[in-house]
Amino acid sequence: MSDEAAEMERLLDGFWPYRKTTTTYRQIPSSPVSRTEILIQIADMAHREDEQGDRGTVSGSLYCGDHDHYAFLGDIFTLFSHANVLQRDMYPSATKFEAEIIAMTSDLLHGTNVGVVTSGGSESLITALYSYREFAQETRGVTKPNVVMPITAHVALDKGAHWMGIEVRHAPLTDGYVVDVAAMADLIDDQTIALVGSAANYAHGLIDPIEEIATLAQSRGIGMHVDGCLGGWLLPWVERLGYDVPLWDFRVPGVTSISADTHKYGYALKGSSVLLYRDKDLRKSQYFAYPDWPGGLYLSPGLAGSRSGGIIASTWAAILATGESGYLDAADAIMRTATAITAGIRSDVPELEVIGDPTFLVAFKSAGELDIYLVNDSLKAQGWRMNALQLPAALHFCVTRPNTSDGKAAEFLQALRAAVDYATEHKGEPAESGAMYGFGGTPQGNQTLMAAMSGVLDAMHEVAPEMPTA
Ligand SMILES: Cc1ncc(COP(=O)(O)O)c(C=O)c1O
Repeated sequence: MSDEAAEMERLLDGFWPYRKTTTTYRQIPSSPVSRTEILIQIADMAHREDEQGDRGTVSGSLYCGDHDHYAFLGDIFTLFSHANVLQRDMYPSATKFEAEIIAMTSDLLHGTNVGVVTSGGSESLITALYSYREFAQETRGVTKPNVVMPITAHVALDKGAHWMGIEVRHAPLTDGYVVDVAAMADLIDDQTIALVGSAANYAHGLIDPIEEIATLAQSRGIGMHVDGCLGGWLLPWVERLGYDVPLWDFRVPGVTSISADTHKYGYALKGSSVLLYRDKDLRKSQYFAYPDWPGGLYLSPGLAGSRSGGIIASTWAAILATGESGYLDAADAIMRTATAITAGIRSDVPELEVIGDPTFLVAFKSAGELDIYLVNDSLKAQGWRMNALQLPAALHFCVTRPNTSDGKAAEFLQALRAAVDYATEHKGEPAESGAMYGFGGTPQGNQTLMAAMSGVLDAMHEVAPEMPTA
């Protein structure tokens, strides 16, 4: 096989690993495939894909890792999977589940019991942005809305702003890698609809100076959203355990909304998040009512139309089945692991620098000449899956429950040491992981990258290409 053909094989195997072992359906099968066969195929894929996560060598992504818990939530999901909670007369239980999810999250974050349940962090963030835009339009006549946020704020906000015609004004970071609040102040004008801070941010796991941002927001008469999608269901327990966590929730007066994902450290199934507001007026801005539709009086709280009762019921069940003591135990294990990793890098890997002062997510970059993506290549080869960052080039390890088993932190530090040695030995060679990042930063580079990135999205929505028969 030529080098080119081998590279093409590798690419195809990466995207469509099952193309040689399963039937690729390009049209609906003419008669039903047996349930047994379907189940066998799916179970095989699921088990195969769970292997790495279950080894506890993956950063973030999987937050709980307890298959008994997943099975229990799956049972609950089944009971309501087919229920459309839009039809509340048929499914009043949804009101109980949803209201109680909001109440419990609000209690955790010292809120006022005003919120909505969404499908995930992105929907919570985009919905918050929408509410601020509508609210600003209605109360202040804002027609050219902008939002001021750290460059590290989650990219879903950029996506939402793009969809809704909101200008994003990115504020730079301080040397400590949290947002520069003075720079934020300079970016605000009379069309600013809200300020944003993260607790904690995705890239470096750091908590922005929420109290300062909130004070600034109050002084300018605008609201402030805290993106607690990642940390919202973890930091309260970390604080209760006695770790030093700055105030970031509704105890801070200028904070007007918070997103907190139940499908991350809330240990619910994927597809749920909570968006809390300080007051009902702001929440009302996200409601949609249309009385003139021939289909009937239409009323909808957010983006989704039909929603499965399964996700709401199972999220409620996840919170109950974990309980305060369960969340505290998990947070304790997570913090012990993350603290050991942070300390280990600082003391034993001088080639690397830990970014800022982390809690549960540890980001690290080269302290000198080392190519951090070569480090990632070696970690990958050793079975560890980190998240690759850019600007600056770095990696992060978001510690979750599956990473907390005995000896995992030491195992990781050992792998990291070997990876740094590998990167030192292979200095100057092109890294495989994160290599695309090098392209960015120039107009041509970004254009090339964006074309490649949309090609990837196309591929993710297509079946494996038919291969010519030999
Ligand atoms: C800080 C933060 N905000 C928002 C999101 C987006 O959440 P989701 O992937 O559920 O849309 C993430 C995801 O990791 C995150 O870390």
